[in-house]
Amino acid sequence: MQNPGTTTTSPTTPKPQCSSSSLSFLTTTLIKDPKPKPILYTFLALSLFSILLILSLTSSSRSSTHTRPDPFLYPTHQTHRIIYDQDKTTPPPPSIAYLISGSKGDSGRILRLLYATYHPLNQYLLHLDPSAPQSDREKLALVVQSNTVFEAAKNVHVMGKPDFVYVKGSSPVSFTLHAAAILIRLSLRWDWFVSLSADSYPLVTQDDLLHIMSFLPKDMNFVNHSSYIGWKESKKLKPIIVDPGLYLSEGTEMFYATQKRELPSAYRMFTGSSFSILSRNFMEFCILGVDNLPRILLMYFSNTPSSLSNYFPTVLCNSRQFNKTVINQDLLYAVYDSHRNNLRPLNSTDFDNMIHSGAVFAKKFQPDDPVLDLIDQKILNRSPGSVVPGGWCLGEPGNSTCLTWGDASILRPGKGSKRLEKAIVELLSNGTFRSRQCI
Ligand SMILES: *[C@@H]1O[C@H](CO)[C@@H](O)[C@H](O)[C@H]1NC(C)=O
Ligand SMILES: *[C@@H]1O[C@H](CO)[C@@H](O)[C@H](O)[C@H]1NC(C)=O
Ligand SMILES: *[C@@H]1O[C@H](CO)[C@@H](O)[C@H](O)[C@H]1NC(C)=O
Ligand SMILES: *[C@@H]1O[C@H](CO)[C@@H](O)[C@H](O)[C@H]1NC(C)=O
Ligand SMILES: *[C@@H]1O[C@H](CO)[C@@H](O)[C@H](O)[C@H]1NC(C)=O
Repeated sequence: MQNPGTTTTSPTTPKPQCSSSSLSFLTTTLIKDPKPKPILYTFLALSLFSILLILSLTSSSRSSTHTRPDPFLYPTHQTHRIIYDQDKTTPPPPSIAYLISGSKGDSGRILRLLYATYHPLNQYLLHLDPSAPQSDREKLALVVQSNTVFEAAKNVHVMGKPDFVYVKGSSPVSFTLHAAAILIRLSLRWDWFVSLSADSYPLVTQDDLLHIMSFLPKDMNFVNHSSYIGWKESKKLKPIIVDPGLYLSEGTEMFYATQKRELPSAYRMFTGSSFSILSRNFMEFCILGVDNLPRILLMYFSNTPSSLSNYFPTVLCNSRQFNKTVINQDLLYAVYDSHRNNLRPLNSTDFDNMIHSGAVFAKKFQPDDPVLDLIDQKILNRSPGSVVPGGWCLGEPGNSTCLTWGDASILRPGKGSKRLEKAIVELLSNGTFRSRQCI
């Protein structure tokens, strides 16, 4: 336990454990130059991105030496071990890989969501789609780089080259798989994959969530699904589409074929919602697995509208290996508008319902809606521009709580963990979840 602020506030003295890292060298260069020449600046920022990208693609053994987190956050001192081992009732905390994505003008929301969901044990990948200018991506990376905590834990990454995401088409599936593949390469440690859009927000702290998830089997998948396909769904699923993002360099309107096709009979089709909490095992099955089911379904869904809501539930429920791991509840609080087509924006009126639902996340929110400040204040105990204080923050209460680090694996769950525990217990009680699995 030591205050690392003293070493990190001075960018000219890089910390010994990362002086070999080209990333920290670049940061140092960027900050040291009093009057950065625009061309040099752009060049450095661009190299930064290539390095980020290369880092994510190099072999895991190499990247693990490059992205080793600050030892203060992961102390290996015996004292911690002993204290930790005595507490046999609490299993070691799991870790979550977050993909946080948005469009033009969403940088601020992405950062806020990052602060609100931050924990040093997790991994984060930030993505701005091609509608946002490259300068926004660069600015985002620079903000991440200049944050003492993110720099020390080395767990926040920005995708330098954007993927096309056309929500009504199939490109979101390819984007999600791409991001999950990067996260699998970046870290061997994470247990669940969560993809958040910039209009979502958490309803519990990461300490609450990781604490509750440490008691769950690591192969559980939380995703809303149903094989009931009424006329309304059928009408939505039968069209053949071609997503422009898959073959045109400039996004245009989606292409609809004049003919429609029958629903599949070679496998059962499931519909669901685009949000889910998926296990690492399952993501590896989809990306690296030798079973061809994920790829066959990928090809089928490439011509189907709104594929992201249906791809993962269909793969899960058609696979003998995974169909028993599905929980038919995504732990997301969302309210549809009166036409039941789109999500209605949530506001302060929804606060109590949202909290009592026991959900982990909620969506959708308008940018900087006052209800987000309410959640920060009452639930997350977060002050503007800083991360949610957790068991790893040992500083004085206030803005600098998280600049003095303790062991990242010590969680301090609060009231949110009780709400979540109640919701999960209800979900899993007396085996009722089995009767709602893949139906
Ligand atoms: C899982 O798949 C197996 C084999 O296809 C099937 O017998 C079983 O009923 C499925 N379980 C669920 C919950 O769908
Ligand atoms: C997911 O399913 C749960 C329970 O079936 C339901 O309460 C919730 O509204 C669903 N979420 C979405 C986004 O449809
Ligand atoms: C919240 O949204 C609902 C439905 O759109 C609306 O009736 C209500 O007045 C809103 N409340 C506030 C505080 O804006
Ligand atoms: C935290 O920082 C904000 C803005 O930087 C400031 O307004 C607030 O007074 C600070 N709070 C404490 C407790 O230092
Ligand atoms: C089992 O679940 C059903 C349906 O949710 C509920 O009505 C019943 O009380 C539960 N039984 C026990 C023993 O928890």
